[in-house]
This record gives sequence, C-alpha cells and structure tokens, in this order.
Amino acid sequence: MSRTTSDTRPFPAKTMNFVREQFAHLERDMHGTERIFFENSGGSLRLRSAAERALEVSLSPDSNSRPTRVARDLARVQKQGEQDLLAFFNGAPDGALLPTATASQAMFDVIRVITDAAPGTNIVTTAIEHPSSYDACAGNAARTGQEFRVASADPETGGVDPQAVADLVDEGTSLVSVIATSNITGAVTDIAAVVAAVRAKNPDVYVVADGVQYAPHGVIDVRAWDVDAVNIAPYKMFGDRGNAFTYLSPRLADLPHDKLAAASTRTWAVGSSAPAAYAGFSAIVDYLAAIGGAEPGSDRRTALVAGLRAIHGHEQALLHTLLEGTASQPGLHQLAGVHVHFADRAATLPRDLIVPLTFDDVSCADAVRAYEERGVIVYERVATSPYSERILRAVGLNGVVRVSPLHCHTLEEAERFLAVTQEIADKVRRAGEQAA
Ligand SMILES: Cc1ncc(COP(=O)(O)O)c(C=O)c1O
Repeated sequence: MSRTTSDTRPFPAKTMNFVREQFAHLERDMHGTERIFFENSGGSLRLRSAAERALEVSLSPDSNSRPTRVARDLARVQKQGEQDLLAFFNGAPDGALLPTATASQAMFDVIRVITDAAPGTNIVTTAIEHPSSYDACAGNAARTGQEFRVASADPETGGVDPQAVADLVDEGTSLVSVIATSNITGAVTDIAAVVAAVRAKNPDVYVVADGVQYAPHGVIDVRAWDVDAVNIAPYKMFGDRGNAFTYLSPRLADLPHDKLAAASTRTWAVGSSAPAAYAGFSAIVDYLAAIGGAEPGSDRRTALVAGLRAIHGHEQALLHTLLEGTASQPGLHQLAGVHVHFADRAATLPRDLIVPLTFDDVSCADAVRAYEERGVIVYERVATSPYSERILRAVGLNGVVRVSPLHCHTLEEAERFLAVTQEIADKVRRAGEQAA
C-alpha cells in the first residue's frame, strides 16, 4: 500500500457528529440547495464559531489601544489570538507575527525584506510554488541582480525532492522559498529534509515556507522545520477571508522592515490591528483543541496538535476511500475513463487531501459543470490560467479537476462522490459508443 493511505483513522461517530455540527453550509449552500462541497482548496468550509466570534468582536467600535474597559477586552482578545498563533506555529517566544490582508502580500513583504538584507548571488525556489512566492522570488532576484534558480518538480509525485532543491544551493544562495503542500497536486514537501539538505550546503541561508495549503491538514512546527517564515491564510483553514498571518523567526524579525517610528523593532504590523481576525483564529484553535481527545488540562499546543493529527487520520481515510472505493462502489483507481494523478499506489510522497483527476473524453470545465449538476462542487485547474499554468506544465499536465474534500466530510460522502464520478464517465462513454 502506498504512503498515501498508511495512516487511515476515521473519526469515531461521536467526533464526526460534533465536527459536522460546527461547520456552516456543510450540506446546503446559501440558497438552501443540497450540495457536497469538495472545493476546500479554494477556500474551506467555515466554522460557525470562527465567524460568530469575529462578528461579535467586530461589532464593537472601540479601538483596542484606548484605556476603556471594552478596549482592554479587545486587547486581550488580540493577545490571546497572538498566543494561539504562536502555539499553532510552535514559534519561538522571541519570534514575530506579521498580520496582512492576504498570504500573498506577506510573501512579497518577507521576500523583499530578506532580499534587501541578506547578501547573495542567487535565490532558489521550486517549480510548484504558488505565484505569490514564485513571483516574489523572481522579481526580487531581478531587482537585486541575483540569479533565479528553480528546482524541477517530480512528475510522478507532483512534489519536489529535497535534494533537487539542495542541489541548486551554494555559498551564494541568500534565500530558499519552498511550498509545504501544493494547492494543485496535493503533494506534501518534507520541509525539515529540505532545510537540513539546504543548510548542510549553506548554514546561513534564509528559508521561507508557504504553509497556506498545508495548514488545515497537518502540524506546522517552525522550530522543528528550522525555517525563518511560514504564512497561513485562515480562509483555507475554516476561517474567513481578508486576513493572513505569518510567523517570523527571531533573526528575520530583526531585519530592517517597514514600520512606524513609534513601533518597536520587532513589530511588523503597520497601522491599526483587527482584533476580530484574532478572535476568529482563537475560535479555530479552540475547535482543533476540542476534537483531538487531548487529556483535559493539556497545554494549547498539545491539544491543537492532537486535533490536527485526528484530522489527518480521518482525511487519510477519506483519501483511501476515494482512491480504492468501498465494498459497493469502485474507487477512482478502478473507474474506466478516469485518471488520478500523483496518487499512484507507488507514490513515495505523503499527500494531503487533494485529488487531481482527469477524464478520458470530458474536458475539465465540462466535468466541473457535470459535477455541479449532480450536486458536487469541485474546481478545474487548467493551463490557460496564469495561476496554474507553470505548475501544471512542471508536472506534465494541461489541466486537472481538483477534488478537495475536508475532514468534516464522511466516508459516505466520498462514496457518493465516486458514484457521481462513475456516472459522468459512463455517460460520456455511452455517448461515444452511440456515436461510433
Ligand atoms: C499554496 C498557496 N499559497 C499562497 C496562496 C495565496 O493566499 P492568499 O489568497 O491569501 O493571497 C494560496 C491561495 O490560493 C495558496 O493556495
């Protein structure tokens, strides 16, 4: 069996019921139409508590920098959120947090700061980076006259081999930027292995990891990974759009960056803060801490890690069901006319819950429409989109239907998805046979 499905642990029924009650629009969209939302890589299903807590806080007009009672409450909300973020990243107490409106914006800021401060002759990244990090590396390399080096992807796995990144690193490398999970292929990068191989060649290099797609599915540990920055976007991890957070290592936090003169050197936030965004994040951490079965009284990090591990086990069970099917329903590997990419039984990389697939005689756009007509929301990533072209070409594809369920889905929903997939493939095959 491939590593894809080695750690399958579906939630016990009680946990599954609890989990499902926490999410909004899980079974019906905002118009009341029944649907299965398997498009969580584009923005995940929302925890009611994250939205409600954020709304509660944002209804208050007070500035958290005033001396009033409500202002002090809001400041406490923000402090708790900052502590929860540090626990989520496992950040060093003297690391810093950069709040931004989007994760892309943070990537551009961080890469510019590093490029300005760290001398070097080249910047290294990978062919499967999201455009935010790829374009920031390319642009800043050009701006500072450094060579831009891109590690190839492995078309078998849809991921990058740590050694392929390290091979491009030398004593002149100033920065390495690497994605933790590809939002198109679902391949998970072994960040610790990348960093170890990179630092063996250049111990001083700054390493930045894009954690946006990884964060809802796995445990981030910036200290074990030994990276200088990781960004996350709550809208991909059960929260809202409009805010993103980036952890910065102590040495990165100290680099010269845009800041108001009145702010401390370690402050990266510029302008008024938004306590509502922190309230939303704390609600996400409360949820993670509640579902993992950690001993009562466990510290925040221990409890949230238990939650993420439980999520991982359930998601691997969903992935296994999608690939291999059930007693009564063939899986994607068995369906005629359907191809799953990068999830071959021989795949050597661990994968997150993203299944890229193609049909023999249906375009990705037509397949996405056919799914929606049957009550399933998925998305196409095609080479005509500037957001996915480079990445798809790097792994040898023109387009995929991206299927991205979430841990709040059941194995029965995975089975229902398979039945719909079979129906789409069969319908096209029958039409082809009639035409012949
Ligand atoms: C892997 C990855 N990195 C970065 C981003 C950018 O996030 P944002 O939309 O917050 O700028 C995305 C968004 O799709 C992503 O999937």
